[in-house]
Amino acid sequence: MSNPLAPPWLTVPDDVNALPARVWSANASRDSSGELEIAGVTAGALAAEFGTPVFVVDEADVKARARGIRAAFARELERVGGSVKVYYAGKAFLCTEVARWVTGEGLNIDVASGGELAVAIAAGVDASRLAFHGNNKSPGELDTAVGLGIGSIVLDSWAEIELVAQTAARQGRVQAVQLRINSGVHASTHEYLATAREDQKFGVPIADASAHVDRIRSFDSLNFLGLHSHIGSQIFESDGFAEAARRLFALHAQLLDGGDVPQLNLGGGFGIAYTSADEPLSIDEVAGRFADIVAAGAAEFGVPVPVIAIEPGRSIVGPSTTTLYTVGTIKDVLVEGKAVRKYVSVDGGMSDNIRPSLYGAEYSARIASRCSDAEPALARVVGKHCESGDIVVYAEYLPGDVRTGDLLGVPATGAYGASMASNYNYLARPPVVAVLDGAARLIVRGETVDDLLIRDLGVRR
Ligand SMILES: Cc1ncc(COP(=O)(O)O)c(C=O)c1O
Repeated sequence: MSNPLAPPWLTVPDDVNALPARVWSANASRDSSGELEIAGVTAGALAAEFGTPVFVVDEADVKARARGIRAAFARELERVGGSVKVYYAGKAFLCTEVARWVTGEGLNIDVASGGELAVAIAAGVDASRLAFHGNNKSPGELDTAVGLGIGSIVLDSWAEIELVAQTAARQGRVQAVQLRINSGVHASTHEYLATAREDQKFGVPIADASAHVDRIRSFDSLNFLGLHSHIGSQIFESDGFAEAARRLFALHAQLLDGGDVPQLNLGGGFGIAYTSADEPLSIDEVAGRFADIVAAGAAEFGVPVPVIAIEPGRSIVGPSTTTLYTVGTIKDVLVEGKAVRKYVSVDGGMSDNIRPSLYGAEYSARIASRCSDAEPALARVVGKHCESGDIVVYAEYLPGDVRTGDLLGVPATGAYGASMASNYNYLARPPVVAVLDGAARLIVRGETVDDLLIRDLGVRR
């Protein structure tokens, strides 16, 4: 029976053990005993070998999504006479293995700091396949990037044009650059995920763009590739992309009068399902709509279709990963004398997934170590941090017999989970384990207490 404390979108599941395909990674299933297994490795085996919490990445799923996005956009853009260059947005989750997986599928990578750049280079990715983003890149970061021969730098301000031009000139190089435009389009997503409304820090206002491009073109040490726009993240509608693309095409057409503009970068932000109530478009549909939007823009302003660059992150790694936790304390809390919410505490929390507390992001959960035929009970999965906002899953129906020691799986944690992890309360950041064809492989080790103490210079040894 439904609980009055449940949000309107959450319905009592017919089967509280089911793993909805939209939300779980491609190779997640239940084995014959009812245990969750991912790519043939059971939750119990993973917890026994690596402990909990642990990020479990379905390797084949990441590669298939990278391949699928590239193929879908290539096919659809070819239909309208264009082509695509796909950058994986490394901020979603980057380690050397993932960098190799996505570049192995023909993608490039966008990095947003000197640290992400270092990871991509440490993975052996050629610098020419990288683009560098950010609203406040330091002179040191830019010097390193230019020196490595980075494929492009996405310029974000007037001051940065000068800085990159001087850096490249000093190094005797010509640096390819794009210019990030704030299109003024407000994407329909969480306020902190919308990156192109007027009152925010990214890019240059569209009205000032042509003066910026003139300035870029005035430097021999810069090579202008084209405009860049990213309107936000976890977007389900194509209207925002369409409006931003229209505004960008108008500018792109105008800039063609002053020289070559080979590319147009329309960013990433394609939404994924975190709960079974989320219904994102399939990548094929997204690519089809994108191509139509591009064709319409090119036709309206009478210009050839440029090479379209896109930067998906979440839609490649998000659905691939499940976080496994161990259930600890359970409390049945009577709310306003009306109904009970079951508080299920796990051994991680906002330090391995800040998104619920940062954006109010919803997730779902299942008992991973077993199936249960107990009646569903409305639960809130919470972490072990000293914050009442330390919530992992706001609302989910779990079997009423959920108990201490159960393993809990939270799907779709691959994007902005491990990458935003912290050491709050001196919790060690969890390991990342790749599973493929029945085998598990540690790709990022978990932190130890020694790691936690290593920067504290007053430790008595
Ligand atoms: C400039 C830029 N490109 C790409 C992305 C990737 O977005 P998503 O992971 O939602 O696809 C982001 C995310 O914040 C971004 O800021």
